[in-house]
Amino acid sequence: MQTNQNNFNLKSFPILTKQKMAAFQHPQKTVASQYVAHKIAEKIREKQNVNQSCVLGLATGSSPVLVYKELIRLHHEKGLSFQNVVTFNLDEYCGLQKEDENSYHYFMNHQLFNHIDIPKENIHIPAGDLKEEEVQQFCLNYESLIEEHGGLDIQVLGIGRTGHIGFNEPGSGFDSVTRRVILDELTISDAANDFGGSENVPKQAITMGVKTILSAKKIFLMAWGAKKADILEESFCRPFSHDVPASFLQAHHNVELVLDNDAAFKMQ
Ligand code: F6R
Repeated sequence: MQTNQNNFNLKSFPILTKQKMAAFQHPQKTVASQYVAHKIAEKIREKQNVNQSCVLGLATGSSPVLVYKELIRLHHEKGLSFQNVVTFNLDEYCGLQKEDENSYHYFMNHQLFNHIDIPKENIHIPAGDLKEEEVQQFCLNYESLIEEHGGLDIQVLGIGRTGHIGFNEPGSGFDSVTRRVILDELTISDAANDFGGSENVPKQAITMGVKTILSAKKIFLMAWGAKKADILEESFCRPFSHDVPASFLQAHHNVELVLDNDAAFKMQ
């Protein structure tokens, strides 16, 4: 590897909640993203060496794009195989077909899956095109499938300005599992550009729950830019609250916050 793990300067700083959460901060999101990608690659190889699947929980949105880019590079240039990788995406908008350019299926295929050697049957993304009567069973099956695969080894997260992780909006329970949810107005307005106006943004989504996310063995939450600074402070520098679902991550034993300087500036 060109970039040695040791070149990454892991900086931990105490968070005001008294719950010390490991945080990696770097001025360039490219380098911070490489750090996450290399941790994922390490886990994939570790599992390959013992003939096991590596189960990844994946996110869409702008935050993980450079992680996926680095994983693709590692596949092409460093021989990283994804044959033993099983993925579960966090969420999908309701009412979108898989081919829709705004669907998370389309995003994942274009940003990652089309460029690596993951077996198609190992990819799981909540369906956006379910009939009303299919939703509940689909969600139950999604939870069971994760469990049958031995749980998530690594979960990759972004954070929404409402404090959502996945599409667990404020009010989501600590015990919530995969289900259909109503999107917050702020989340809809943040997605408006992609959809050519907030009136075109789906109002509902299917998302893994908070409990599903917290069941992962390791979690990386990434955030870039000053627009995430306030919600990061609310999530990780104050006691946890139902009003800020990301704050539930304080209860997890193995979370790393991966931030650029602008996102982190209120946390030091
Ligand atoms: C995406 C997801 C969301 C995003 C969050 C941040 O699958 O579950 O929680 O991670 O909205 O989005 P970006 O990264 O676009 O700022």
